Amino acid sequence: MRDLLFAANWKMNLGPDDARAYMKTFRARYNRHERREAWFFPPAVSLEAAAQAARERADLLVGVQDIHWEPKGAFTGAISAPLAAQAGAKAALIGHSERRHVFGETDEDTRKKLTAALAAGLVPMLCVGETLAERDAGHTLAVVNRQLSGALGALDGAALARVIIAYEPVWAIGTGRNATPQDAGAVHKEIRSWLTARGVPRSRVLYGGSVNLKNIAELLAERELDGVLVGGASLDPEAWAQLVQAPAT
Ligand code: PGA
Repeated sequence: MRDLLFAANWKMNLGPDDARAYMKTFRARYNRHERREAWFFPPAVSLEAAAQAARERADLLVGVQDIHWEPKGAFTGAISAPLAAQAGAKAALIGHSERRHVFGETDEDTRKKLTAALAAGLVPMLCVGETLAERDAGHTLAVVNRQLSGALGALDGAALARVIIAYEPVWAIGTGRNATPQDAGAVHKEIRSWLTARGVPRSRVLYGGSVNLKNIAELLAERELDGVLVGGASLDPEAWAQLVQAPAT
């Protein structure tokens, strides 16, 4: 048995009332598991509701989906790491592929956001992953290495040790087409060796992209995976409770 982290990315779904109802159902259906954690990334308006519902449970944690790198100021519509922390966030997704590819976020943006998350005491979960064209061109590892260096290159070992990496191939997100456990495992190895080379031998590396109830057991059988980051299949609290309880060795 190993420690596993199951992270739910609700994306632009579930407002505060929905979040309260969701968490109630999830807590009723999920039998706490010694070596598992369930994290939730609600939209910012639902952070407080979700965090309230997760309180007093060390195995449940709430994070913010995106932050601005400045702590405060005239940035209409943006949310900073300290503001998210005040609403109950303990973690922050950084560089999710939708931020990169829909909103044009650069590696330099991810670096600034990641640094801001650490400064505010949030656990950064850095998302990396290649597009289909990059994969087809054989550039997967080069892209992942570039994204790691771009966001993390300036950090020392102590800061790096606080970062979680989510490998999410862009072509697998929301498409119903997941990476094979072997493909994911090979990239996870590369991510781990990047971190090991910088003095962080133990790190948490998750897989994300079309994870669901059908493929979760097969994915978790790949021991390179320390857990999963899940979008679509995390939106129903009953199904999510089932997924977080999926068998693994
Ligand atoms: P998906 O999304 O599970 O719906 O593919 C994963 C993610 O974007 O984090």
